[in-house]
Amino acid sequence: MRPSPWPVRIDDLLLRDPVEADLEALLSFRNDPDVNHFMVRTHVDPDDLRREVLAVPTSPTEFSCVVERDGQVVAIGFLDVVDGPGQPGAPAGTDGLIGYIVDPRHARQGIGTATARALLQACFEGLGLRRVTAAAYADNPGSVGVLDAAGMRRERLERQALWHHQLGWLDEVGYALLAEEWAARTEA
Ligand SMILES: CC(C)(COP(=O)(O)OP(=O)(O)OC[C@H]1O[C@@H](n2cnc3c(N)ncnc32)[C@H](O)[C@@H]1OP(=O)(O)O)[C@@H](O)C(=O)NCCC(=O)NCCS
Repeated sequence: MRPSPWPVRIDDLLLRDPVEADLEALLSFRNDPDVNHFMVRTHVDPDDLRREVLAVPTSPTEFSCVVERDGQVVAIGFLDVVDGPGQPGAPAGTDGLIGYIVDPRHARQGIGTATARALLQACFEGLGLRRVTAAAYADNPGSVGVLDAAGMRRERLERQALWHHQLGWLDEVGYALLAEEWAARTEA
């Protein structure tokens, strides 16, 4: 099992492994209808959330974290290690998939962007991954704003690729960053 890339402190934010005591805070916003407007998973059963959160610290492939400010959970960051696609023979577990949810009571304060940057740092510097991707509904201005601000590269637009329960088929944007791009940026 790989060691966790957490905890990481960035300015006033602490990103750390989730624990059972975080569940109440996470449940206070995870099923908020505004939060879920552009989430693919529009509702999470509390028992499933509990099971998933408690499994993270021992998972060999999931390194999701909670984001704390002044002792309060304000966001969750998702990080899954996956195999890169392609022909047989590729090394396993080289790629990362990231995502994030910010408690709407703390929105537009840069927490989403800081979380995405910390997830990238964890992927490249903590876990030694080679490529990290993220995807969003193209109409989700918050997520697109975060991915742009975090410095990921927009590399695909898929037309009418994702179902939305109120709006029908919507476009999806895909972002990525390579380890060499991250290194060039941090060395600059
Ligand atoms: C998307 C989300 C993570 C943004 O988090 P945040 O902490 O508010 O984002 P930031 O403060 O870092 O914003 C970065 C930029 O994104 C853009 N942005 C963020 N929220 C926005 C919104 N509601 N409308 C338009 N632009 C927005 C802005 O350009 C912003 O920069 P600015 O505040 O300087 O103008 C948060 O709104 C959220 O959790 N939404 C629900 C869950 C979700 O959609 N997650 C992503 C799934 S792919």
